[in-house]
Amino acid sequence: MLSKTMQDAFSEQIRNEFSSAYLYLSMALYFEGQSLPGFAKWMRVQFTEEQSHGMKMLDYVVDRGGTVALATFEKPAADFKSATDVFERTLAHEQKVTSLIHSLYAVATKENDYATMEMLQWFIKEQVEEEKNASLILDQLKMVGDKGSSLVMLDHRIGKRGE
Ligand code: FEO
Repeated sequence: MLSKTMQDAFSEQIRNEFSSAYLYLSMALYFEGQSLPGFAKWMRVQFTEEQSHGMKMLDYVVDRGGTVALATFEKPAADFKSATDVFERTLAHEQKVTSLIHSLYAVATKENDYATMEMLQWFIKEQVEEEKNASLILDQLKMVGDKGSSLVMLDHRIGKRGE
């Protein structure tokens, strides 16, 4: 059985994961509006991934006989300026999520909850991937700039995610 402290910490992170999903859906809509379907698709995949992160945690809490308290979250940002701006925000967001996952791990450590520590290893590794992916695309956007044929070519390549 998970401690009440651990259950509350998971409920908060589940809220954060679904909030992240909504942020990426907002970014997908921005790219749809910019006629950049590849980036839009990448963000749609990200939207789905974040929901799966939330569900993975939710299922774990349920499996351990705990209770998840669902909560609302704030409206996602929609005031994006460019593709580079979106990926700067994506990287910053993932860095924040990494620190939240580390805090969750710190709670598990304090609670001597070894099963949760083991389960969170997956998320710790996943965050390394999340930051790497956002950082790589941001670097490439800085190389090609925010308009022109190079951006269209990058959009095409980024849209291959999940194929
Ligand atoms: Fe669920 Fe993007 O971390």
